[in-house]
Amino acid sequence: MSKRLKAFLLFFFVIAQFTNCEAQKKTIDQKVDSVLKLMTLEEKAGQLNQYSGDWISTGPITNDGDKQNQIRKGQLGSMLNIMGVKHTRQLQAMAMESRLRIPLLFGQDVIHGYKTTFPIPLAEAASWDLNAIELSARIAATEASAAGIHWTFAPMVDIARDPRWGRVMEGAGEDPYLGSLIAKARVKGFQGKGLGNTDAVMACAKHFAAYGAAVGGRDYNSVDMSLRQLHEFYLPPFRAAAEAGAATFMNSFNDLNGIPATGNSYLQRDILKGQWKFKGFVVSDWGSIGEMIRHGFVKNNYEAALSAIRAGSDMDMESRSYKDYLTKLVKEGKVPASLVDDAVKRILRKKIELGLFDDPYRFCNDEREKGALNNPEHVKAAREVAAKSIVLLKNGNNLLPLSKNTKKIAFIGPLVKEVKQNLGFWSIEMPDDSSYIVSQWQGLVKKMRSADLLYARGCGIEDTSRDGFAEAVAVAQKADVVIMSIGERRDMSGEAKSRSNIHLPGVQEELVKAIHATGKPVVVLINAGRPLIFDWITDNVPAILYTWWLGSEAGNAIADVLFGDYNPSAKLPMSFPRTEGQIPIYYNYFNTGRPATSDNDRFYRSAYIDLSIHPKYEFGYGLSYTTFQYSDLQLSKRKIRAREKIEVTMKLTNTGKYAGEEVVQLYLRDRVATVVRPVKELKDFQKVKLQPGESKNIRFIIDKEKLSFYNDKLQWITEPGDFDLMIGSSSADIRLKDVFELVK
Ligand code: BGC
Repeated sequence: MSKRLKAFLLFFFVIAQFTNCEAQKKTIDQKVDSVLKLMTLEEKAGQLNQYSGDWISTGPITNDGDKQNQIRKGQLGSMLNIMGVKHTRQLQAMAMESRLRIPLLFGQDVIHGYKTTFPIPLAEAASWDLNAIELSARIAATEASAAGIHWTFAPMVDIARDPRWGRVMEGAGEDPYLGSLIAKARVKGFQGKGLGNTDAVMACAKHFAAYGAAVGGRDYNSVDMSLRQLHEFYLPPFRAAAEAGAATFMNSFNDLNGIPATGNSYLQRDILKGQWKFKGFVVSDWGSIGEMIRHGFVKNNYEAALSAIRAGSDMDMESRSYKDYLTKLVKEGKVPASLVDDAVKRILRKKIELGLFDDPYRFCNDEREKGALNNPEHVKAAREVAAKSIVLLKNGNNLLPLSKNTKKIAFIGPLVKEVKQNLGFWSIEMPDDSSYIVSQWQGLVKKMRSADLLYARGCGIEDTSRDGFAEAVAVAQKADVVIMSIGERRDMSGEAKSRSNIHLPGVQEELVKAIHATGKPVVVLINAGRPLIFDWITDNVPAILYTWWLGSEAGNAIADVLFGDYNPSAKLPMSFPRTEGQIPIYYNYFNTGRPATSDNDRFYRSAYIDLSIHPKYEFGYGLSYTTFQYSDLQLSKRKIRAREKIEVTMKLTNTGKYAGEEVVQLYLRDRVATVVRPVKELKDFQKVKLQPGESKNIRFIIDKEKLSFYNDKLQWITEPGDFDLMIGSSSADIRLKDVFELVK
């Protein structure tokens, strides 16, 4: 085929696809309009209501006892917390009794897996492995959709710089670039090949916006920040989610600069639906419309409904403000009918795209449910993703990996034999069945069948009793090596789980001291939903693995890492402080006029007199059983104009004994600009696998996008000047450096 003919056919194909897409859009728009035309105002308002089922609560339930009747009357558009084909079918059947037979949407917090539970999102973020993260969301969607669910309230894409905030476990950490890529991967994973496929669920980017910046790390608290900070650090992952096609957004509980997000039209109308042209719908957070009363922003639910609908909140989760007042507001002329129509159309469109108008029961298939929830491929993937999420923080004398010939192993600590704890917060438990969860003890037993395995609990997670110490010490003394599993309880992080003290709870650190005093080699596993503080352990114990909460395959994944079947490759997505006094702590800060060049420099100390400004473990940090050498940095140009690009190449060599993966991180600093720029910003990374002795050339492209920033007029611009280029193994461990100039 000639080149010309090929080009012509390609052109023809693209046009045909486009026309097809346009035609499809039209028919969806036509369908939406044809349904809308039939609806009464009451039915329209009904579509904007969402209630929780009564048997699981993820918020304060309103028991109005009349939900089923309301469904039958078409007064409800959606429900959450209804799980399983049996229940969703029953409720959908009630919706089919309503006058217009508009199907219900079933939403659920499928945050890190459904039955097959993956690591908590912060842990997955530590993998820096976008394919793994997408796969995890894909499997979660496959299982949830098979269980009758159409919509997940995920991903949470809130940037968080404060580990006291309990919800850090649900996000991707502190960095907007990493956070944006992960947001995209998760949206893609949940929505699969697109709505309309029965294994795709609608994603929901939440909580819009700036929820992660709550003052003092206290959940639901106020947020006060400059618009430049908002646009530069907090909004990018939301924008990425919208660009990836997220079907829905959820607004947030907090106020932003004095305006509750739920009643904030700058956020929802101007930015999301205006500038970003978002075509999906916005659901309120649980009760957040009514909560504007307690914020002191509106007087009553009537005003709350008025404020929320005006601001662009399309669906009312659980506050009943729309249910009780929306029709009244329209009849009184306070709310134009077109605003309600717009919200209803957005919701109907998604119901049509999901195929629910063609078959409201298409997600209700018992056989599919059974198969999806017991799929060995899902379990295998959960084990792999869990291993990829474990961060090796310390490995003195290369204590890890442990030899598979080790004869006597003591496994000590309050989390060793726990089962459900491994699931972490925001997980979905199968009623009456926890046999699918692999405890850490079971994982060790399976891996080391012929070794002599000893166990002692030592202490509880939060107890102050030291009664179990003696037994634990005696067990340790008999062993060749001791592994200790300690940490938080899984429900010490999550929603409404902020902690002012993020040290290890109870007497666990003392237990570690007692075991360490036996002189036996000790490996500590730390289980948590946030960065914790455990300085003594860091300074004294030879080997530490940060295991977060790894999900249903936790035990197997931990054993894989301990015994070298998986070489750790994860890197911290959040800075770990030395004490709470350093919070908020993040790597991409602005320099002061007196930057802390040395912690002892009296007048150049924008630090503390009693503490370094450096975190205990920095963003991007994480070790491997092998070592990597960075070399041969080359830039294709040292001067570019904004429309040009620089090709950056370097060589990475595995200089150790094990095959392993390294996350090569590229940071930039814009030295001088009309607004000050961070000391470092992650702009690219690659996760590279190398055999021992193997080298690979790595290539990055620096383009205009990577050099742009928001100026003080909120314009996304570049300015000429010098840029530092830094490539390294973490945000502090920079191995290669250069400088280039952007010229006019
Ligand atoms: C949380 C949301 C969640 C919703 C429904 C709220 O309390 O903030 O993230 O999706 O409940 O469970």
